[in-house]
Amino acid sequence: MCGIVGYVGSGAPSARPEGVVMGGLARLEYRGYDSAGIAVVTQDRAHVDMAKKAGKLVNLGKELAEHPLGEATAAIGHTRWATHGAPTDANAHPHLAADGRIAIIHNGIIENFSSLRAELRAEGVHFLSETDTEVAGHLLAREVLNGATLADAMRAVAARLEGAFTLLAVDSQEPDVVVGARRNSPLVVGLGEGENFLGSDVVAFIEHTRTALELGQDEVVVITPEGVSVTDYAGNPVAREPFTIEWDAEAAQKGGFATFMDKEIHDEPAAVADTLRGRIDEHGRLKLDEGLIDESVLRSIDKIVVIACGTAAYAGMVAKYAIEHWTRIPVEVELAHEFRYRDPVVNVRTLVMALSQSGETMDTIMALRHAQQQGAPVIAVVNVQGSTIAREADAVLYTRAGPEIAVASTKAFLAQITASYLVGIYLAELRGNKFPDEIAALLSELDSMPEKIQRVLDTSDTLREIAHTMADERTVLFLGRHVGYPVALEGALKLKELAYIHAEGFAAGELKHGPIALIEEGQPVFIVLPSPRGRESLHSKVISNVQEVRARGARTFVIAEEGDVEAADYAEHVVYVPQSPVLMSPLLTAVPLQIFALELASAKGYDVDQPRNLAKSVTVE
Ligand code: G6P
Repeated sequence: MCGIVGYVGSGAPSARPEGVVMGGLARLEYRGYDSAGIAVVTQDRAHVDMAKKAGKLVNLGKELAEHPLGEATAAIGHTRWATHGAPTDANAHPHLAADGRIAIIHNGIIENFSSLRAELRAEGVHFLSETDTEVAGHLLAREVLNGATLADAMRAVAARLEGAFTLLAVDSQEPDVVVGARRNSPLVVGLGEGENFLGSDVVAFIEHTRTALELGQDEVVVITPEGVSVTDYAGNPVAREPFTIEWDAEAAQKGGFATFMDKEIHDEPAAVADTLRGRIDEHGRLKLDEGLIDESVLRSIDKIVVIACGTAAYAGMVAKYAIEHWTRIPVEVELAHEFRYRDPVVNVRTLVMALSQSGETMDTIMALRHAQQQGAPVIAVVNVQGSTIAREADAVLYTRAGPEIAVASTKAFLAQITASYLVGIYLAELRGNKFPDEIAALLSELDSMPEKIQRVLDTSDTLREIAHTMADERTVLFLGRHVGYPVALEGALKLKELAYIHAEGFAAGELKHGPIALIEEGQPVFIVLPSPRGRESLHSKVISNVQEVRARGARTFVIAEEGDVEAADYAEHVVYVPQSPVLMSPLLTAVPLQIFALELASAKGYDVDQPRNLAKSVTVE
């Protein structure tokens, strides 16, 4: 949460620094949109010029149009998801120190800020905001006023801070320099010609360069137009290998769609296809992107634990059904924030799978570290290259969904299921649970999914119309069974996130144990109906559930498989998806529910890309 951009360039192709930084912030706004601000260092060394405004980036844009900043080569910018202090102009970043000589921006939480603030107050420092960030600014000021360079000051200050932070700072006395530091929060460096960039993730600068460097834990980076240097907090140089960003700049644009979310839903066939592409070698073995977990270790594991949050956790729940079925290894799925604090039974024979679109979710990072401390090998299923989870895991399988900008996750969900399935298929092959022809059949089933997802997208118009008639609903329920259960949970989550409607997902079998009491005349209920070609009893049991809620006055909307002749008898409306093997069906049935949430939120006039109170990448615990 909080997006951070830094830029230095002189006479460089990217022109005015604040333009580059505003462009980067626009792409990072998914990380938080409580306020935005920017600071530039004017060449006359006189001062740091700053603008900041509460609310979305558009407010800052208006402010800059009315009061342009001075000519500069270096700039930093911030888009905030509030933690300490309300989303006001005063609490917006950057924060100034040393009478406007220093400007600082921050992502994360400085846990020892109270004691540091007391220390600074005792020295007579006056605070202008309620943020934890401001202490870091004043600590930097103290160092530079004592003669330190900004880089030395940053190293000294970062070493004193506890918690999670990415900090960027500029000093009016060093007009061609931006300095950054990180611990537990993300920071990536973009390498240009005559210009260099810093960003919370690569989309911040993808328009300008596709060569990047990851910054490791507890490191400080200095960028100038001519170069980049990285050290640890003690000042020892650190060598880092550049990598090429696989995404292209266009992938981070709306591409003709009204919203990123609509575009990203339409990216889903490609997200699944790209996640599969080239992943299995001629021997049926999974090709990991980074790192390796020894095959002997994978043969000896007796449990898999999936750690994830939000939508990624629901992808993990889907994967549990498939991986257990294919490998006979028990799979637990645990919300990462619960996992770490309950003393979980994890050891060297537990394979931990960390699922995360951003690779920066703090809860998941902490759970990953906890698992590693217990000796468990960790494989990351992550979308963002160079992210913390990708870096810290023992092995990485990237979901190749491309940049997901809309806060509510859509295409990453499908890509996470796909990548987790690949892990399951690989384990089944490695451990001899499946014959080669069975493995080949599973892979070919997966291969056929992108085309089927496209068919769902091509036939979604009536669902869009229905959504527009439901703008006044106060609550919507979702039912599913087997793999349809996590899909129902995800359908409810999407509606809560986007349309601010109370929504709940239930296991259809659980209905009779309580939730059925909620049903009254006119209550909309979405049901993910299992295939009638699968276990027949499952289909008929869920049909019974549909009848039970209808008998009590519910309006039923059913997601059913093409050829399910019974579905229409029990539904006000049926959305048909192509036939597929049961375990593949979530890749289809989730899509109409995403579209429904998108359309209902749009009908209510809400911003579907940036729902209230949320941030895409939750980098605080
Ligand atoms: C936030 C987002 C969700 C996302 C979750 C996990 O809560 O709003 O959309 O599913 O974080 O994010 P991750 O990046 O770890 O997949």
